[in-house]
Amino acid sequence: MSQCFSENLLAGKVAFVAGGTRGINLGIAKAFACAGARVAVIGRDAERAAAAQADIEQASGESALGMSCDVRDYAAVETAIKTTTEAFGKIDILVSGAAGNFFSPIVGLSANAFKTVVDIDLIGTFNVFRASFDYLTKPGASLIAITAGQAEHAVPFQAHAAAAKAGVNMLTKTLAVEWGPAGVRANLIVPGGIEGTEGVKYLSSSQDGLDEAIGRVPARRLGTVTEIADTAVFLCSEAASYITGQVIYVDGGTLTGNGAYDCLRPLKR
Ligand code: COA
Repeated sequence: MSQCFSENLLAGKVAFVAGGTRGINLGIAKAFACAGARVAVIGRDAERAAAAQADIEQASGESALGMSCDVRDYAAVETAIKTTTEAFGKIDILVSGAAGNFFSPIVGLSANAFKTVVDIDLIGTFNVFRASFDYLTKPGASLIAITAGQAEHAVPFQAHAAAAKAGVNMLTKTLAVEWGPAGVRANLIVPGGIEGTEGVKYLSSSQDGLDEAIGRVPARRLGTVTEIADTAVFLCSEAASYITGQVIYVDGGTLTGNGAYDCLRPLKR
């Protein structure tokens, strides 16, 4: 079992991570497992889901669940949540992290391209949160949506993701207000540019463009998956028991609004 700062911080908890089969969300799932939680992840690709399950089991020494499931399919999400509660008894922690994105000017988007990203990011987050309600530990559950700075600060070529994530922000904040009296907390994490992720690969057309973007980040570097995962562990722990309805930027001070990513250009398709 690997070492982690938060060992036992989430002991006895059960976590469900949508999109947790790769990238930042897999990092979050593994951090939850290292902190003592039993973990289930879902992703579209069955092979990747199986690999993620093995990865989490190796990191934690405990059995995990990796399931193939598209967050756009409400019935499939509901089944995955039921399977998790049958296996582990309950759900204390839920992360909505499944996302789809690419860089495109608005005139480069077909109606279906725009709808596809809204379906994955916004409708998918609704599906994951809504389908979980009956299964959440109440009081005590903690929900996280992974969002993006574009939801609050306009940047070029991101109309589809920005619109979807703005919806995710208000959905999650509203949920914090409505489900708060039942003892459910809900927060949002905004990752900045995170090294080694598909997001950085997709969103940077050249090393020069990426270097320019990093030069505009006050921390002068990309973030790490671990830095996002540790934030998620904190938000789901007792240490954050009075934090709800908040958007937490983990981005080296970029705040996106300072134009750090304006120099990025769409990749050629
Ligand atoms: N620019 C403009 N339109 C694009 C595009 C791009 N770079 N990539 C896809 N599209 C359009 C497609 O042409 C299609 O529209 P059409 O039917 O009018 O032609 C529409 O988006 C749906 O694409 P499709 O590939 O059929 O959808 P999908 O559900 O298989 O894939 C995506 C979803 C589009 C988000 C895809 O980029 C994806 O799966 N990405 C991997 C995961 C990811 O993006 N993670 C987040 C990183 S930040």
